[in-house]
Amino acid sequence: MHSKNEQTARKTKMQMLDIESIRKDFPILGQEVYGKPLIYFDNAATTQKPQIVLDTIVGNYSTQNANIHRGVHFLSQTATMAHEEARATVQKFIGAEKSCEIIFTRGTTEAINLVADSFVRSQCVDGDEIIVSEMEHHSNIVPWQLQQQRKDIKIKVIPFDERGHLQVEKLEEMITSRTKLVSVTHVSNTLGTVNPVEEIVRIAHAHNVPVLVDGAQSTPHIKVDVKKLDVDFFVFSGHKVYGPTGIGVLYGKEAWLDKLPPYQGGGEMIKNVSFAGTTFNELPFKFEAGTPDYIGSTALAAALNYVSAIGIEKIHAYEESLRLYAEEKMKEIEGMRFIGENDQKSGLVSFLVGNIHPYDVGTLLDKLGIAVRTGHHCAEPVMHHFGIEGTVRASFAVYNTKEEIDAFVAGLARVASMFNRKKH
Ligand code: ALA
Repeated sequence: MHSKNEQTARKTKMQMLDIESIRKDFPILGQEVYGKPLIYFDNAATTQKPQIVLDTIVGNYSTQNANIHRGVHFLSQTATMAHEEARATVQKFIGAEKSCEIIFTRGTTEAINLVADSFVRSQCVDGDEIIVSEMEHHSNIVPWQLQQQRKDIKIKVIPFDERGHLQVEKLEEMITSRTKLVSVTHVSNTLGTVNPVEEIVRIAHAHNVPVLVDGAQSTPHIKVDVKKLDVDFFVFSGHKVYGPTGIGVLYGKEAWLDKLPPYQGGGEMIKNVSFAGTTFNELPFKFEAGTPDYIGSTALAAALNYVSAIGIEKIHAYEESLRLYAEEKMKEIEGMRFIGENDQKSGLVSFLVGNIHPYDVGTLLDKLGIAVRTGHHCAEPVMHHFGIEGTVRASFAVYNTKEEIDAFVAGLARVASMFNRKKH
């Protein structure tokens, strides 16, 4: 459902985005694959990195590398300051109240595992319930299942309908006095569905149940304001938002993070250690055991500053125009079946073409220089829902263009006709 007003608003936001100049910021985009210009549509798996992120990594290793927090010497203090400035950048980017509410992790998966471990250990008893959704990535299912080895908790699942719309209206009746947490994705990595987080939070909070939101697929595309959303925990990965791999973020409301016990031990997370017992450091250090990835954090901050300089609203409007354009063109291909047709979508298109196996589509597109993802996208329950093995997924970023989509659709048409010819 995209009214004329929405289209006009999108156009206004997109104005002044110079995609050609943005593309020049990403050195990898200039290369060829099998003699064809690279068309990179696997951005939901990981995004490419702008020069400023690469320069930050090399620059920091070249000029200010030293372990942080513990050193009195100049380099250590410089590196410590840069790490803490990066924390403040993340805080600002997602609208958190305090920088101590930002915990650096290895990524979304580690952040969810941290909460699952600390939360279930300290807040749950046998018989308690955690609610997730049917469209979760495995990283928001398995950490809770692992906790079932520790406590006899029940995992309840909010279903989605045939269009990929989450049936949030069922949440109210699913919550009981034993429900301890609702943990849902903001944007599905497989369906592209944008979930109504504010509504989910309103329902859960009315029952005093906290909410964790997996923002791995929303943070790169949508303005995130954790205070406005009123989420209790929010997690995302650096590498999906133009930052480096191996760094991610757990945001938690201070009151919750204070309440939860440490996840891992060692390093800066302690106040005092003796064999009689150990006291823990304050936030955020309590959750950052071992040497933090202080190069990754500063490179992530460079990525977030890069996004902010372009404007996340402009990025969202532009990417939406790409997705809608792609869907419109793809409809013309014989046998096209979209998996995920929710009204509110973001950033990606999942699909099947007739009976052609997704791997065949992906492999043939690859030979044309077009990178897409195929398979279950680490969301097997979504595949079970539709009774399929996998999909092909094209996911977009700010550096993609309509010309690339034209080449992709032409490639798809070729693949479809090759298989149709074989059939006859
Ligand atoms: N979670 C990543 C994806 O959806 C890897 O592709």
